[in-house]
Amino acid sequence: MSTRKVFLVGDGRVGSTFANDLLQNVKIDELIISDVVKKVPEGDALDLEDLAPFVGQCKIRAGEYADAKDADIAVITAGAARKPGETRLDLVDKNVKILKSIIPPIVESGFKGIFVVSANPVDILTTLTQKLSGFPKNRVIGTGTSLDTARLRVALSHKTGINVNQIDAYVLGEHGDTSFENFDEALIAHKPIKSYEELNQATLDELETEVRQKGGKIIANKGATFYGVAMCLTQIVKAIFENQSRVMALSAPMEGEYGINNLYLGNPCVINANGIADVIELHLSDEEKAKMKYSAQKMQEVLNGINL
Ligand code: 2OP
Repeated sequence: MSTRKVFLVGDGRVGSTFANDLLQNVKIDELIISDVVKKVPEGDALDLEDLAPFVGQCKIRAGEYADAKDADIAVITAGAARKPGETRLDLVDKNVKILKSIIPPIVESGFKGIFVVSANPVDILTTLTQKLSGFPKNRVIGTGTSLDTARLRVALSHKTGINVNQIDAYVLGEHGDTSFENFDEALIAHKPIKSYEELNQATLDELETEVRQKGGKIIANKGATFYGVAMCLTQIVKAIFENQSRVMALSAPMEGEYGINNLYLGNPCVINANGIADVIELHLSDEEKAKMKYSAQKMQEVLNGINL
């Protein structure tokens, strides 16, 4: 029976919330937590081990990059978080610098598992994690628009009164200001969104803006966002360990889909024990294809300005 080991980098609000979610949702054998502030993972390990009587045993400890050697999954949450009024792209310089200090030592440890990235700007950092590690693209995953897609489905459920799990709609592109919804193909209870009279174009436009701005609104109110993205991380790790072949909108490696190459962008993917098993190219309308290309172009412009 192979053991299940997770190496977590970054024990801030996202990392700590993820660790708590993970232990309650996925059976794992070992969780190692690293952070630049050494005492925080030491304290979190002691705090989290007290879940054992209720959620099952797991070895939890603070560790260093060398401990990633035999981990199955390395989760990267480390990075500065947005402040009120900041965009995710405003974080690129400082978080690329942090990423460059993390990925090489993990690879040097002998780590051969799957990277899962949530730090922002997540599409840029996921693309760079793959370049810095040289890992196969299917073994580098970013949370991408999984959180935006959850927010969209919650908003559509509020509008229609239909259960969030009956809503098949995605947010695509950058996890950020150029994201967009695939309303032209989306279904609610197996009916096209456009057949719901309460979802006229003006309402859909409002929803798109509401979803795009929700992260910033949460930050403006409580200073940070972490519950939603931590659960996205947890569900990705669960899909890997349980070989679920589940579909989620992630930062996915584009290799020709929609005419886009060599970067990660939010798109539905099949996730299983091998990481990203398939990137699903949706039949987007011409308008949506143009939005996807625009989002890719903006990401590529940012990437062109980064020297690894
Ligand atoms: C958000 O939108 C953390 O970027 C993430 O909440």
